[in-house]
Amino acid sequence: MYQGNRASFGSKSGAILAAAGSAVGLGNIWRFPYETGNHGGAAFILIYLGCVFLFGLPIMIAEFTVGRRAKASTGEAFKAIMPKGCWKYVGYLGVLTGFLILGYYAVVAGWTLEYIYQAAVGNFSDKDPAGFVSMFQNFSQSPFRPLLWLFVFVFITHFVIVKGVQKGIERSSKVMMPLLFILVVMLAVCSVMLPGAEKGVEFLLKPDFSKLTPDVFLGAMGQAFFSMSLGMGCLSTYASYFGKDTRLGNTAMSVGIIDTCVAILAGLIIFPAAFSVGIQPDAGPSLIFITLPNVFQQAFSGAPALAYICSILFYLLLALAALTSTISLHEVSTAFLHEKFKLTRGKAARYVTGGVLVIGIVSSLALGMWNDFKIAGLNFFDALDFLTAKIMLPLGGMLTAIFVGWIIDRKIVREEATNYGTLRAPYYPVYIFILRYLAPIGIAAIFLNELGLF
Ligand code: PFF
Repeated sequence: MYQGNRASFGSKSGAILAAAGSAVGLGNIWRFPYETGNHGGAAFILIYLGCVFLFGLPIMIAEFTVGRRAKASTGEAFKAIMPKGCWKYVGYLGVLTGFLILGYYAVVAGWTLEYIYQAAVGNFSDKDPAGFVSMFQNFSQSPFRPLLWLFVFVFITHFVIVKGVQKGIERSSKVMMPLLFILVVMLAVCSVMLPGAEKGVEFLLKPDFSKLTPDVFLGAMGQAFFSMSLGMGCLSTYASYFGKDTRLGNTAMSVGIIDTCVAILAGLIIFPAAFSVGIQPDAGPSLIFITLPNVFQQAFSGAPALAYICSILFYLLLALAALTSTISLHEVSTAFLHEKFKLTRGKAARYVTGGVLVIGIVSSLALGMWNDFKIAGLNFFDALDFLTAKIMLPLGGMLTAIFVGWIIDRKIVREEATNYGTLRAPYYPVYIFILRYLAPIGIAAIFLNELGLF
């Protein structure tokens, strides 16, 4: 266990906003809408909500339990609680997963800065749909510009991290999360007021159960884990900064609700606007970089100033959401190096930033000039995405559920859920049942499905 003078969040609201900042990210605004679009809309969302509340929240409380109990970052927390056996490797797996994810996530995060810039200099106004396609392709495949924005994004993340837990992570979350919420609500209101937007709202809210297949169910579970930052120990590192009186159940519930609301609001921005101009919602990952600028131009064709402002605000929103998540990903590795090797926080952060830039450069170039270099048929960017999101993430989530459900002393689990007996935790029996049975089996099912074995 780390013995130094340990940092902590200054308030319960700061803890909630920081954890919500980690959860709310590109997963909500970029991945959720295209997954919903590809899986038929409202039926997918219903299953997604089931997954969030049935699997996501208990595993989040389990991650909080590990982090707060150990008072150590994920990399050290499993070892601190269970020094014997192989469980410490689950912590190391979390650190590695977070580090690798940051390597490619920061590339996409950098794109958001390019799009803020392009929107701000008015480069969207003269483009037709084909123009937006070539703009995205030329940019993402070019060698230098994406790297420039990658560097900028990673340096901003680095800057927040070296400021520390309270002055960096907590303070930035307290400013950015409310701003993000205001932006997302404003844009959703603009979008649902467009003529013809009802079809988009209906697509999002009226389920068609004939669309339900096992694939939808498993896709929704995967999305829930990615979106809630589960399975990589991000939230357990944050929980190591929680105070004794932070209520783990309530905090998980707040984070789950905020994360879900932002995802649904992002859907309310994208689908009504897309339907109002007759664009199909299943455009896939390019939805927000190709389809959306086009949507804003067409939807507000009578009011170019509104198109201009909405475009800038949307990409600003995306950049803020991505930043609160990259901060949390960076923190997992920085806190690990700081505690394990007794490096100063600044030095630990520099190593992480250096490593992330190397992975980021390779990931970014893999979409352009190094696209021919393949690992198991995938370019480096896609291979990293596959390895982390589809293998390491479900594995980490499943092992955490097993660790808390079966391995550690039940007294510890109860003490953390009840804040040493000072709280009632009526959810406790259900929580334990889910950790022991439902979650491991459910995650194993996602895992096998993603590998194509199920
Ligand atoms: N939850 C973030 C999102 O939805 O974009 C992504 C993420 C952040 C995943 C932190 C994992 C993590 F540890």
